[in-house]
Amino acid sequence: MKMKYESERPLYLDSSQPIDRRIEDLLARMTLEEKIGQMCQYSGITGEYERMIREGRIGSLLNVVGVDETNRVQRIAVEESRLGIPLIFGLDVLHGYKTIFPIPLGLASTWDPDAVREAASIAAAEASAEGIHWTFAPMVDIARDPRWGRIAEGAGEDPYLGSVMARAYVEGYQGKSLSEPDTIVACPKHYVAYGGAEGGRDYNTVDISERTLREIYLPPFRAAVKAGAKTVMSAFNDLNGVPSSANPYTLRTILRGEWGFDGFVVSDWNAIGELIVHGVAGDIYEAAEKALMAGVDMDMQGDVYNRALLRLVKEGRIPEESINEAVRRILRVKFMLGLFERPYVEAERAKRIVKCKEHLEAALKIARKSIVLLKNEGNLLPLSKHIDSIAVIGPLADDREAPLGPWSCLGDPRDVITVLEGIKSKVSPRTRVLYAKGCDVEGSSRDGFDEAISAAKESRVAVVVVGESRDMSGEAACRAHLDLPGVQEDLLKAVYATGTPIVMVMMNGRPLSISWPAEHIPAILETWFLGIQAGRAIADVIFGDYNPGGKLPVTFPRTVGQVPIYYNHKNTGRPPAPNIKWTSKYLDIPYTPLFPFGHGLSYARFEYSGLEISPLEVWRGDVVRVRFKVKNVGDCEGDEVAQLYVRDVVASVTRPVKELKGFRRVTLKPGEEETIEFTLTLEDISFLNYEMRRIVEPGEFKVMVGSSSEDIRLTGSFIVKEYVELPLWG
Ligand code: BGC
Repeated sequence: MKMKYESERPLYLDSSQPIDRRIEDLLARMTLEEKIGQMCQYSGITGEYERMIREGRIGSLLNVVGVDETNRVQRIAVEESRLGIPLIFGLDVLHGYKTIFPIPLGLASTWDPDAVREAASIAAAEASAEGIHWTFAPMVDIARDPRWGRIAEGAGEDPYLGSVMARAYVEGYQGKSLSEPDTIVACPKHYVAYGGAEGGRDYNTVDISERTLREIYLPPFRAAVKAGAKTVMSAFNDLNGVPSSANPYTLRTILRGEWGFDGFVVSDWNAIGELIVHGVAGDIYEAAEKALMAGVDMDMQGDVYNRALLRLVKEGRIPEESINEAVRRILRVKFMLGLFERPYVEAERAKRIVKCKEHLEAALKIARKSIVLLKNEGNLLPLSKHIDSIAVIGPLADDREAPLGPWSCLGDPRDVITVLEGIKSKVSPRTRVLYAKGCDVEGSSRDGFDEAISAAKESRVAVVVVGESRDMSGEAACRAHLDLPGVQEDLLKAVYATGTPIVMVMMNGRPLSISWPAEHIPAILETWFLGIQAGRAIADVIFGDYNPGGKLPVTFPRTVGQVPIYYNHKNTGRPPAPNIKWTSKYLDIPYTPLFPFGHGLSYARFEYSGLEISPLEVWRGDVVRVRFKVKNVGDCEGDEVAQLYVRDVVASVTRPVKELKGFRRVTLKPGEEETIEFTLTLEDISFLNYEMRRIVEPGEFKVMVGSSSEDIRLTGSFIVKEYVELPLWG
């Protein structure tokens, strides 16, 4: 059966018509069943799904990949269904499609939105070339609990950094216009507060205050929507008693009402069906009704809308107009993407674009930027390429899987350069490289220790690569312990006992509690999972071809017992004081983090000077300029991420001890100095009062500028002179 309008081409197929007219024209031709079909999304492709597509009963598929396969399935929708509405193909393209970049937590460690935008735009070019239109990304959940495995997928703990990164991802994926062939639709997820899961256990209950919701968890979503994200994914979690996928307050009042979001909402995987399990719906009909009326337009894989909506409309339980609204929103995105004009992709183009040389080079460049030098005692790093011997030890030293990290899309382990390979290709031909795995990531076997010990004994230096396997973070990958898994710390101790200096390279999807290594190992590199160029990037840093400049987007605890631990905490009435018992701390460990938010060293050193704040007295309409100089006083070129923190000293509600309000990554040659200027608007220093109105109160604001949230180099203050009320969202 071919769709044909021999006599007259329908208006909705006329690309010269405005999108709204095309939508109304198409909608008027659709049966109720076809409308509901647009709201149903399934994973993969089966004979049954093909039949449903032909009948116009599926609007979207996820996890269908490859030029041939997407074209084949699209052809069924376009050429064999009555109205020929193209499918929108979705996929989790989080940190690369086939050219795999660092995991998002690593990308956030660049503190460089341009790098993130570039990674997202390359991912979009590759994915779209192979027929993908839509990514379930960025994940913009704030995560203050490293036990939660999905911390790997986001930008860490801070709403400001998270918002900057959220915007960069959306701009990268969606480009200037979705009608361009190399862009894909972004889908900030998981709306909302999914990262606040109690106990760091995935899918668990979230119970947070309105203030925490609005000041911590919502801002990155707001930033993504403001940047033009055309879809949003509603989360699995229960938020203050109402599951996120049936929550009219977050989905209608905030997302559509306060923010004016005009795209569509897709549920997370079977999140509508799980309303029954949550205990807020007795059957699929109640589940569908609740989700739809809350504002969920598309049902991912739940098969609930497919089974329930028709009857609900027929029985008058939901108005057909609610279906029309959802379908309009979905169709709008399809029209914006130009799917009706260009439903298929060309194999030739994909071949040219996917994993091309430029993309691989960008993956290397961005991987290097993601590396964080946590410690470098006695300047052990960088090593000389002419070193006579080097031991490369550890379960991840020659592992091709781990560097891809969780959600590595169509990343292929065969494309990964391991640390061992990176080192071998870098050192002089005379350098002896001895490799010993030592142990597995998990498990208790120490059988490989002896080999590792002798390799270390025979070498000038040992590079020990430890951490987590790729499936230990990501979805449903939570840990109650944050230590190095298995016997890896014992391996480190055994190598340490040889007296050979150690460079510890970490690969992991979350902050780990590495108190012993942090005290004893002289040099530590946090590399997260760097993607296919991991080994090259790490070797570049180890041998000084690249000077590391990444910073932590999340606090490292000393032990899991400190969790949640984050830099922008409140002062309390009894802030910790070392010698006073009755203050907020622990008996058995210090209250401070192991490595603070914003921490990261360089082979160069940077000096800060000349802080100027103006004006010092601030009135309505003013912006505050914070200006200072950063100078490279080291002997090599390097990057510094200058960070601006602010504290509202006295307010009508308690405020964090510091909040990040600006940052800039600069590259400076030895001796070079740069003036950095940040501007703070009143919105930047505003907060929500006890009535949840956005205000700025008169009084003192402390300004802190530095190299990390704890390494503050310059301080000053300004005084706000009048009370100002601002719009709820800027
Ligand atoms: C995850 C989402 C993901 C979806 C589709 C779900 O299980 O929570 O993040 O986008 O699956 O793969």
